[in-house]
Amino acid sequence: MLVRLIYASRASAPMEPAMLDDILETSLAQNPSHGITGVLCHGNGVFLQALEGDREAVSRLYLSIGRDKRHRDVVLLHYEEIAERAFAGWSMGRVNASKINAATLLRYSAKGELDPCRMPGASSLALLKELIAGAAIVGRAPERGRHTP
Ligand SMILES: Cc1cc2nc3c(=O)[nH]c(=O)nc-3n(C[C@H](O)[C@H](O)[C@H](O)COP(=O)(O)O)c2cc1C
Repeated sequence: MLVRLIYASRASAPMEPAMLDDILETSLAQNPSHGITGVLCHGNGVFLQALEGDREAVSRLYLSIGRDKRHRDVVLLHYEEIAERAFAGWSMGRVNASKINAATLLRYSAKGELDPCRMPGASSLALLKELIAGAAIVGRAPERGRHTP
């Protein structure tokens, strides 16, 4: 059974590119073999991540991510059983929040900043879907996040 889970968290330390690269390397190495797809949005000291896949695989990964010392204050924003994936094309797409159009962020937040801890779950999903649709996914090597079944 397919599920989608979205959470937000705060980085434990200032977000260094090497730390983000390391998280993405791990995600791209491990997610395909577990059938996980999703998006990781980062910036303003926070993470917003969507995980999709088999219910057990998503639960296991979420618990593992929750124990990761690189972030804290993990808040579950959204969880649902789904008929189809919204982020099927991405083993883990990466979005740098500083590259997101300010008007887009303002539509989903009070101050036009990425502040997912205060965001309703439905808005966090809508924002991530909009980022995917607008091809706002960036990264060191964007194609590497692509999921090739
Ligand atoms: C914000 C954030 C997002 C992460 N996303 C993933 C992910 O999508 N897939 C993954 O395998 N690990 C991800 N990790 C890393 C996991 O927390 C964990 O370090 C990794 O799964 C290795 O666990 P293991 O040593 O038990 O295999 C993420 C970590 C953080 C801090």
